Amino acid sequence: MLAKTIATTEYIRSATENFQPEFGIVLGSGLGGLAKEIQSAFTLDYHDIPNFPVSTVKGHSGKLIFGSLNGKHVVAMQGRFHFYEGYSMQEVTFPIRVFIALGIRKLLVSNAAGGMNPDFKIGDLVFINDHINLMPTNPLIGKNVDEWGPRFPDMSESYEPTMLQLAKKIADEHGVRSHFGVYASLTGPCFETPAEYRWLRTIGADVVGMSTVPEVIVARHAGIPCFGVSVVTDLGGFEPIQKVSHEEVLEVAHASEKKLTRIIKEMVALC
Ligand code: HPA
Repeated sequence: MLAKTIATTEYIRSATENFQPEFGIVLGSGLGGLAKEIQSAFTLDYHDIPNFPVSTVKGHSGKLIFGSLNGKHVVAMQGRFHFYEGYSMQEVTFPIRVFIALGIRKLLVSNAAGGMNPDFKIGDLVFINDHINLMPTNPLIGKNVDEWGPRFPDMSESYEPTMLQLAKKIADEHGVRSHFGVYASLTGPCFETPAEYRWLRTIGADVVGMSTVPEVIVARHAGIPCFGVSVVTDLGGFEPIQKVSHEEVLEVAHASEKKLTRIIKEMVALC
């Protein structure tokens, strides 16, 4: 993985005239709209990047966008890789390794998630203040690459408190409904059963999804401060029990794109 990461990073550096991103941004399901706000300098298709996996999910278009967002240099992943697509954890997190090798200072990730907290409403934003990894594996399993980070990384502050406070302040200023919450990651691709939602609530989770945690683990391994935000696209764990579909998830995520875009745009200017 180290050699592949170096090779891919070198390819990207030469394809982008040594563009130096300060922020790495991962745009989740239905949330790719932020990409339109980036004054893009270079766009690379995943297909053309050596060693990059190719996204297979509807709503994930598969591009790396390099450019300026509110005056800051960013690289954004439009479309991420999920464990349920059949990729290994190393493949899922490969772009994050490359972002780190490119020299990002901060990682911002977004996702669509199911909400279990009864205070939440569909369309709310949840600023992730901690996570529970319920995926049956971890991207750091295997020989540790000491150049990347320690064998046993600390996870006591996985989500940067100053970015959390800043996000909340911006959301409040714009009258956007938002909360802090704990994100639980499951492999999917099934949505949760009613019993699973109830259990997730009892173990302290507020939102659940199928991404984000592997990416944050890899970034924290390298000591990169992280910010994560979920759009609540559906609710579970309490009555009335409702069906969930991928189409609805995408629809709600799209409808929330503007709010999320505004917050991320303001955040990058201030941190
Ligand atoms: N679970 C439940 N609801 C969701 C998810 C999930 O993983 N992702 C988006 N909505």
